[in-house]
Amino acid sequence: MLLVKSLHIVFVVSWFAGLFYLPRIFVNLAMEDESAARARLLLMARKLYRFMTILALPAIAFGLWLWLGYGITGGWMHAKLGLVVVLIGYHHGCGRLLKRFEAGTNRHSHRWYRWFNELPVLILVAVVILVVMKPF
Ligand code: HEM
Repeated sequence: MLLVKSLHIVFVVSWFAGLFYLPRIFVNLAMEDESAARARLLLMARKLYRFMTILALPAIAFGLWLWLGYGITGGWMHAKLGLVVVLIGYHHGCGRLLKRFEAGTNRHSHRWYRWFNELPVLILVAVVILVVMKPF
């Protein structure tokens, strides 16, 4: 069980590296007018989105294994799952925003993306407090 939990944490951390960095690329894309620089940022964003999607799958799979396989549950787990659903929605949202940048139809300012970038931080803090302290 401890190996499954270790792998869960490793993939969660790796997934979050992408969730923190991709919106930062979006901030730069929303400010960048020069076409070569935009092309480079778009390539980075595409590769990062593909990579973080590959990392999200084992992060969730090992979490489900801990929950359903070892029966570790409680009120905290249900609250955590709610936040994980929001996180998966955020991840999917990043994919849609990337498609808009690729199509040249981005509608948001760099300031909007800076706020957008803060949401995973709030979710991470809440999830870690829930899973470590198990307050309910
Ligand atoms: C469907 C998704 C997920 C499920 C079903 C899940 C389930 C679990 C379970 C059952 C544990 C073991 C808790 C214990 O032994 O006390 C655990 C540990 C942990 N999970 Fe998740 N998890 C999921 C996603 C996440 C995400 C997205 C994060 C980060 C934001 C996360 C962070 C952690 C951490 C830090 C631990 C270790 C806690 C400890 O050792 O006390 N998990 N997870």
